[in-house]
Amino acid sequence: MNISVAIDGPAAAGKSTIASLIAKKFELMYINTGSMYRAITLICMKNNIPYQNVEKVVSIIKNLDMYFNNNRLIINGKDIEDEIRSLDVTNNVSNYAAIREVRDILVSIQKNMAYKYNVVMDGRDIGTVVLKNSPLKFFLTATAEARARRRYNELNKNGILVEYNDILNDILKRDYIDSNRKESPLKRADDSIEIDSSDLSIEEVVNIISNHIKEYIASLCSN
Ligand code: DC
Repeated sequence: MNISVAIDGPAAAGKSTIASLIAKKFELMYINTGSMYRAITLICMKNNIPYQNVEKVVSIIKNLDMYFNNNRLIINGKDIEDEIRSLDVTNNVSNYAAIREVRDILVSIQKNMAYKYNVVMDGRDIGTVVLKNSPLKFFLTATAEARARRRYNELNKNGILVEYNDILNDILKRDYIDSNRKESPLKRADDSIEIDSSDLSIEEVVNIISNHIKEYIASLCSN
C-alpha cells in the first residue's frame, strides 16, 4: 500500500519547506500542487489566454506533459520552476485555480501520481479532495502577520525589496479568494491534524509530522 501524506494550509504557511523536508526524510515524492496551478497560469498568460476563456485554458492544459524532477516542475521538457514564482503569476494564479475544469484535470493527474508513488503533497484541497482517504492529513496554519513576516524576510534575503504591508495585503487577499471560491475552497479536513506554526521552528513542525508518520508506519507493520 502506498503512503500518501497531505499537507494543506493558507499561502506562505511554510507548506513547501516542510513538505520537502518530510519527503527527504521518508523518501517520498514531493508534489507541490500549487506549482501546477502556477504553471497553467504562466502558460495561459504567455499565450494571452484570460481565465474567462475556459475552453481555451482547458485545451492548453490537455497538451501539457507535466512531471516533477528533484522537486522542480517540468512542463513539456522545460524547467519552469523559477518563472512560476514571478509576482505576475502570483497575482493571477487564484483566478485560474478557481476554474472547475482546471481543477478536475489537475486533481486527476495528482490522484494518479499518488496511486503510482509514495507521496507528500501540499496544496489547498489535498486532505479534502485529492487524498481524501489518506490517514495522514495535516493542516498547517500561522497568523497572517507571521506568514507575511516570513515571506518578507525571505524576499529581502534574496535581494528583492518589498514592503511588509504589501506582502501582508497580498496574503490576506489570497486567503480570501482561496477560502471563498466555489470550487474546492481552502478548508481544513475534519480528520486532519492542525498545526499552528506561528511560534514553532521548521524543525519542530517537521518533528510533529514525522512522529505521526512513524506511528502510522509502525501500525502498518504490527498488523
Ligand atoms: O501554494 P501556492 O501559493 O504556490 O499556490 C498557488 C495558488 O494555487 C494559490 O492561489 C492557491 C492555488 N492552489 C489551489 O487552489 N489548490 C491547490 N491544491 C494548490 C494551490
